[in-house]
Amino acid sequence: THIPVVCVDGPTASGKGTLAAVVAEKLGYHFLDSGSLYRITGLAATRAGIALEVANQEAIVALLRSLPIRFEGSHILLDGEDVSDAIRTEEAGMNASRVSAFPLVRGALVDFQRNFRQLPGLVADGRDMGTIIFPNAPLKVFLTASATCRAERRYKQLISKGIPAILADLRADLEARDARDSSRPVAPLKPAEDAQLLDNSDLTVDSSVEIVLDWWQSKQ
Ligand code: C5P
Repeated sequence: THIPVVCVDGPTASGKGTLAAVVAEKLGYHFLDSGSLYRITGLAATRAGIALEVANQEAIVALLRSLPIRFEGSHILLDGEDVSDAIRTEEAGMNASRVSAFPLVRGALVDFQRNFRQLPGLVADGRDMGTIIFPNAPLKVFLTASATCRAERRYKQLISKGIPAILADLRADLEARDARDSSRPVAPLKPAEDAQLLDNSDLTVDSSVEIVLDWWQSKQ
């Protein structure tokens, strides 16, 4: 627990992933994208024909234990298969949100996530990094942006990849996902009591990074 951790939590499409990855690179730290674990879980269960219902959570955990997850650079492998792209769809995000509300699924992933805390340090992004997984982290950032902003960013991202998208649908989807993530009884999306809030609606990635690095510096 003496190994430093920077937590970056926040709602869907707030830019957590981008911010956390750049901060990790600048600090030379490891990086954990915890959402990818729930995305993989949703994907694996769907492929196995298991309905994403709480009654099936034991079967989903058993499946998860039978399929090794491995990170290779920015790629993520499920039982040897590169699923980096397959887990990035809107549908995979919604499925991740469903399975992530199941207590046994969350419990099964706790140690896996904590094992990423290795020297020289870790930057972890998700929903409960600061509240549940690394409660003693010296820096916890809660990153937000307006729903309009987040939907527009997601829209541009998809369009730039040549994926057709409808702005109003994206916004409705992300608001539905946030509502589910915030209202679930286990590990709901909320800032840790000692989190520092950052609204990046009007900030560039570079200036958000600078703010977080300044906060980190002031902890040293
Ligand atoms: O961050 P990302 O959009 O990839 O996360 C997908 C879903 O996984 C979220 O909507 C949330 O339901 C879930 N999640 C979670 N806890 C985390 C990270 C993600 O419940 N630490």
